[in-house]
Amino acid sequence: MSGFITINGSRVDSPEDPRVSLLDLLRERLELPGTKKGCDQGACGACTVLVDGQRILSCLALAVQYEGCSVTTIEGLAADGTLHPLQRAFIEHDGLQCGYCTPGQVCSAVGMVEEVRRGVPSFVTSDLSAGTIALTHDELRERMSGNLCRCGAYNGIVDAIAEYVETVR
Ligand code: FES
Ligand code: FES
Repeated sequence: MSGFITINGSRVDSPEDPRVSLLDLLRERLELPGTKKGCDQGACGACTVLVDGQRILSCLALAVQYEGCSVTTIEGLAADGTLHPLQRAFIEHDGLQCGYCTPGQVCSAVGMVEEVRRGVPSFVTSDLSAGTIALTHDELRERMSGNLCRCGAYNGIVDAIAEYVETVR
C-alpha cells in the first residue's frame, strides 16, 4: 500500500513505482507544470520546490522519499489567486525575461530567506558565532548560486529578493 504526500495542501498518493522523481510526479502525473525541468541533473535549480519549508531539487528526489511530507510548488505559493509577495517583487523589478527559471528562483529564495532566519551559514558567512546573519549582496549571491538564469536577469532577481527580504524582516 502506498503512502501519501501533501502537495500544495492536497493529499496525493505517492507513486507505486519508486523510481519516479518528485519532479516527474509533479509535472507529468499531477499536471503541475510550474516546476520546470531544466537540466534534470541537479545543475540549474529550475526544479526547486519547498519540502516542509526547505528548498530541494525535485529532479534529484524520488517522490516516495517524501511520503508524509508537505511539498509546496510555485502553484502553492500564490494563495487564492493572490500572488506571493516575492512573485509580485519579481514582476515589479523585471526579475525575469523568458520566465523559465522563475518558479525555481522564487521557491529557492523563499527557502533561502528562512535558512538565513534560522542562522544556517553559507560558504561566505564570515562570523559563524553571530546570532543573526546579514543577507549581504555576497550572501545573497552565494545562496542563490544554484539557480541559473540563462536570460541573465540577475540584476532584477537580486533586487526583487532584496525587496522581499526587507518586507519580511
Ligand atoms: S532540473 Fe533540477 S536542477 Fe536542473
Ligand atoms: S528568465 Fe529566462 S532563464 Fe531566467
